[in-house]
Amino acid sequence: LRPTHRLLSCSGTVAADVKREEQSSRNVETGSEDRTPKKKFSEVQKERREQAQRTVLIHCPNKISEKKFLKYLSQHGPINSHFFYESFGLYAVVEFSQKESVTSLQNVTRTPSMETEAAIPFKSRFFNLKMKNPSSQTSEQSCIQSSNHSPPSNKKLSELLCYAESMDDQLNTLLKEFQLTEEDIKLRYLTCSLIEDLAAAYFQDCTVRPFGSSVNSFGKLGCDLDMFLDLDEIGKLNTNKTSGNFLMEFQVKNVPSERIATQKILSVIGECLDHFGPGCVGVQKILNARCPLVRFSHQASGFQCDLTTNNRIALKSSELLYIYGTLDSRVRALVFSIRCWARAHSLTSSIPGSWITNFSLTMMVIFFLQRRSPPILPTLDYLKTLADAEDKCIIEGHNCTFIHDLNRIKPSGNTETLESLLKEFFEYFGNFAFNKNSINIRQGREQNKPESSPLHIQNPFETSLNISKNVNQSQLQKFVDLARESAWILSQEDKDRPSPSSNQPWGLATLLQPSVLSSVSLAKKKRKKPASERIKNLLESIKSSSPENDTHTNGK
Ligand code: CTP
Ligand code: MG
Repeated sequence: LRPTHRLLSCSGTVAADVKREEQSSRNVETGSEDRTPKKKFSEVQKERREQAQRTVLIHCPNKISEKKFLKYLSQHGPINSHFFYESFGLYAVVEFSQKESVTSLQNVTRTPSMETEAAIPFKSRFFNLKMKNPSSQTSEQSCIQSSNHSPPSNKKLSELLCYAESMDDQLNTLLKEFQLTEEDIKLRYLTCSLIEDLAAAYFQDCTVRPFGSSVNSFGKLGCDLDMFLDLDEIGKLNTNKTSGNFLMEFQVKNVPSERIATQKILSVIGECLDHFGPGCVGVQKILNARCPLVRFSHQASGFQCDLTTNNRIALKSSELLYIYGTLDSRVRALVFSIRCWARAHSLTSSIPGSWITNFSLTMMVIFFLQRRSPPILPTLDYLKTLADAEDKCIIEGHNCTFIHDLNRIKPSGNTETLESLLKEFFEYFGNFAFNKNSINIRQGREQNKPESSPLHIQNPFETSLNISKNVNQSQLQKFVDLARESAWILSQEDKDRPSPSSNQPWGLATLLQPSVLSSVSLAKKKRKKPASERIKNLLESIKSSSPENDTHTNGK
């Protein structure tokens, strides 16, 4: 169960990358390209991580005076920013200016004494604030401003889309409603940082890094939190630092393979999360998977977490996606809309299975944008040619080299609208030769399929892997049928667009209604009436029944 966050109040210094985010959201409105320098992925990660280390999470009493709360905490040092959210209780995220303030707060914090149970005295940065005298506070009431921090309901999304002025406006609106907020991002980095504290009890100086959609610029509110335990930092500290003829190594235990080492480490961390991790529940150790992981819920943040280790390639692919998502403002708008479309028609699911994943869909959009003329996105091979010595990166024998500085990549001269790109996407994949071709973003062109999986999308770094190996023929066929029907609807709509004031679903709103596409297949089969009339009737029938679709469901 993933609780909805309700953001209640927020204040504080706005970090530089947030300013950029605002800037780019302004651009979402104007459609013009952002000219401000864009941060490198590693810079964003470093800043956010450092910010998270100075941050604490506090479960608060429901009725609290914000002013007194801040005054109380300021005893430990200046506060940079804070916000409140609701998730089965009231929580505060407080970022101090200095790390020492956290230690100071921990020093005056006690371990609760239980009457019937016993507490495990693990001291973390997750606190519980109690009133010494609850009755004295009731007169002050909470003066915390309420504002919503969850994705829009289907009804609200549908309304917003109906009133949009153009289809481009619709796609940008959807992006703005679903993209991760500043607070959600902070909470994601904080959660990783809290898990890192636990893992550090075993592996000093380890790092827990978020990857996947939390950081690759394609995260939708409610998406899972992928994190990996990076133990390589430890090795790095010692290399080349010893002088003279001696070299000191740690005495360690050896196991037969890297995989076994990963399983052993994750097994212990999983136990630790389960037994000692405040707020970590439903811990499952999935150690026999291709990429072993520990899955758990972090109750206070509401995130479903997947913890892996030894997963640097996935972090690289997150960085590559971040570059693609940040290069051109159309990319994210298109990816978000296609992900929502896929979710609405049950092409994707929060349960793993033989369906297409969001990650595969994102790769398909990137590939499609590389195929435009002129291309909107460069190929990975081209990004590799731009790399300098510092960008060089080989992981486990795989060449993961590509340019890190986004500002050195020339913007595309392509000026196609989002409306046209959405239509063309459906046309393109509605007619793609999936039976013989593989999708390859490294080269930006189709390749012969090396194996017989129905859908073949080459992993950009581990090139022998197919990232959509799980997809079966019937799921692929469903995708193709829906893409064709969507392309058809959009081509018909051109002729028959209702005025925005008529409050009828149109454009993207029509595509997100599951019933429309199934009725379209039927109507297409019957072919009784002229197309414009069929669409009109369909839209009428939707308006009267207006079923709630499924775009709002969390997860992948
Ligand atoms: N990944 C991969 N190969 C796969 C699946 C996943 O390399 N077959 C990596 C990708 O870097 C991906 C990350 O693992 O971004 C996390 O996987 P997942 O959670 O499935 O995808 P997300 O991109 O995080 O998307 P979602 O919002 O659906 O979680
Ligand atoms: Mg994910």
